[in-house]
Amino acid sequence: MNAPENHRSARRTAEDVAEAGRFFRYMADYVGFTAADAGIIRRTRPIIAKYLPEIVSEFYTHLLRYPLTRKLFLRPDGTIDEPYLNLRMRHLSNFWLRTAQGVYDDEYAAYVDYVGRAHTSRGADPSIYVPERYVIGQVGMMQHAISRAVSNELRAVDDETEFRAVEAWDKLMMVLLEMLAHAYGHEQEPEAYGEPVPVDSVWVRALAEQAVAAEHGDNGARPLRRAAVAAAAEIPDGQRKIVQIDDLSIGVFHHQGAWYAVRNSCIHQGGPVATGALEGDVLTCPWHGYQYELRSGRCLTDRDAELDRYAVTVTGELVYVDVPDSGPPAGLQEKAGEPALQANEFRIADLAAGQMLTLTVNGLAVLVYNVDGKYYATDEACTHAQGPLSAGKLEGKIITCLLHGSCFDVANGAALCAPATAPLKTYPVTVDGEIGRVSVT
Ligand code: HEM
Repeated sequence: MNAPENHRSARRTAEDVAEAGRFFRYMADYVGFTAADAGIIRRTRPIIAKYLPEIVSEFYTHLLRYPLTRKLFLRPDGTIDEPYLNLRMRHLSNFWLRTAQGVYDDEYAAYVDYVGRAHTSRGADPSIYVPERYVIGQVGMMQHAISRAVSNELRAVDDETEFRAVEAWDKLMMVLLEMLAHAYGHEQEPEAYGEPVPVDSVWVRALAEQAVAAEHGDNGARPLRRAAVAAAAEIPDGQRKIVQIDDLSIGVFHHQGAWYAVRNSCIHQGGPVATGALEGDVLTCPWHGYQYELRSGRCLTDRDAELDRYAVTVTGELVYVDVPDSGPPAGLQEKAGEPALQANEFRIADLAAGQMLTLTVNGLAVLVYNVDGKYYATDEACTHAQGPLSAGKLEGKIITCLLHGSCFDVANGAALCAPATAPLKTYPVTVDGEIGRVSVT
């Protein structure tokens, strides 16, 4: 295959994509993988989706056990880089969900070819090199995990269907193995061994659950909620604003008369892509130069990938972004082994210094602030035009409304800057061990 030497600088041509497709079809034909097999695989997609947390956690528990694969997921101080591991899990979830779609066109083949190269020094990051033997081993492991899942679920249907589904996946795995291995060309790597390390597989499983849920969410399964992120006047044409909504960092752009919002996390290594240079319609991640079309989110460096985008609505003076609803506010989410919270309670651990969170108590939105370890609470709506103060800026004890710049002292509610003149209502906050409690009367 005509794989470019440097994936980052050389974009894949239509001929590269067509060549990947030819190679895929050649191998599929060789192992006897037919359109009927593809159809059966498509039917097993719900099974793969159901077993994905198990499949993904098995994959990474194994990689974390062996020092030579484990080292790719460690920080310089030797601890596991959890956000990076989570990103890898999401990419793997996406790989299996896409593979289970049963669509094996040129684009899919080019995607597998790209994934293969990602593990070699011809991938986007030449410093990452995964020796071929580990990729081969992982394909074997995935083959077993998928066979097990398919068998478990289809055994009850009938033997014939179960057998045909397992066989279809087995054949596809042979094709995937060959395509992933093909990416290595003639590269050789030095041999080395290390003793296996114990891994907390329960923790890996919990992380995998989160990553898979996030991918399902990006496929549109999660409901959306509309969050106010800025006053329109705050982002003139040609400007952008980075906003944090729950655990999502998002870049909101006002660009050539239109509005766009993209996830501020590069598909490559999670770099702050929305802070990168925007030339014409092309946004470049400051970390490793991955490029995206702002309008479509399409990645120009890896044509099979996309940056998550969010719908933007500008109503009156406010800019809103539709984001996946992450459920109740952080303070109310149940945590294993911890008592459920009342509507007026929050966990101290969920409210870092300089941050705020919203509670809804008896239908009233109350904003709780952590100012250098002291907790305050006020109404969430600005007293001037009811702007949402949760979308405003907290500096020390001063909260500034994003709509017209009114500001208040959160400790006593005093209106400090016009146009607001009426003070904000405040509520007492008490701290009881790990729990904070707002008295709303
Ligand atoms: C069944 C075999 C495997 C599959 C299907 C697979 C899948 C993937 C996928 C989908 C990506 C993301 C490519 C992208 O969009 O940038 C990726 C990247 C990566 N994989 Fe794998 N992988 C496999 C084996 C392994 C093994 C054995 C390791 C060993 C540690 C590994 C470590 C990595 C690393 C470090 C990256 C990041 C590469 C980069 O940032 O350039 N993978 N893999």
